[in-house]
Amino acid sequence: MQTATNQKDTAKKRPVVILTKQISAEQYAWRNDPRITAWTRQNGLISEEDQKKWRERISSDPSIQMFGILSPQGLNIGTAGLTSITPIHGTAEFSLFISPKEQGNGYGKSALIELLKYGFKHLRLNLIWGETFHGNQAKAMFQKLGMKEEGRLRERYFKNGEYVDTHMVSLTRNEARSAEWWT
Ligand SMILES: CC(C)(COP(=O)(O)OP(=O)(O)OC[C@H]1O[C@@H](n2cnc3c(N)ncnc32)[C@H](O)[C@@H]1OP(=O)(O)O)[C@@H](O)C(=O)NCCC(=O)NCCS
Repeated sequence: MQTATNQKDTAKKRPVVILTKQISAEQYAWRNDPRITAWTRQNGLISEEDQKKWRERISSDPSIQMFGILSPQGLNIGTAGLTSITPIHGTAEFSLFISPKEQGNGYGKSALIELLKYGFKHLRLNLIWGETFHGNQAKAMFQKLGMKEEGRLRERYFKNGEYVDTHMVSLTRNEARSAEWWT
C-alpha cells in the first residue's frame, strides 16, 4: 500500500511522506535507541532474534499493519503501524516513531495523518486509539490532529526503575472526517 499527502497538505507546507510495506534495515537499531525506547513499552534491548520474530509476525498477523515511512527524498526514516486491529469493533491502536536523526522535520505528523487516513478510509475503522507515556510531548501533536484524551492510567508500566503513568488518546471516524487533514 502506498499513499501520499494531497495538494492541500502541500499548500500547508506539510512534508509529503509515503507509507510503504518496506521496513527499513535500520529499524532494529532505532528500536534499541534510547531516544525511541524512552517512549516505548519495551524494557531492555531487543535481540536480533526478537526482531526476526517481530518481522515474521507483522507479515503474517492480520491484526497488524506495519509500514515504513519514506521521506520526500525517498529515505526510509521511520515506522508507523496499526496493531490490535479488531474488524468487528472497527478499532485499532496506532504506533509511530521517526529515526532520531530525522525527528522534528514534520515527518511524524505527516506519517500519522497518512496512517489515520489508511485506517479510517481503507480499513473502514471507527476508532483509532493510542497510549503514550506521561511526559511525551508527542501527545500535543496527537491532540492537534484531533485526538481526544480519554484518560490517564496510573503507574501502568515499570520503566527505568519507576512506575510511569500513561495517557490514552483516541479519534473516531466522525471526528476525523471534520479534521482539516481529512481530504
Ligand atoms: C513522536 C514522533 C513520532 C514525532 O515525530 P517528529 O517527526 O519528530 O514530529 P514532527 O516534526 O512531525 O512534529 C509535529 C508536531 O509535534 C510537535 N512534537 C512532536 N514530537 C515532539 C516532541 N517529542 N517534543 C516536542 N514537540 C514535539 C512538533 O513541535 C510539531 O508541532 P507543530 O505541528 O506545531 O509544528 C517522534 O518524535 C518520535 O519518534 N519520538 C519517539 C517515539 C515516540 O514517542 N513515539 C510515539 C509514542 S506514542
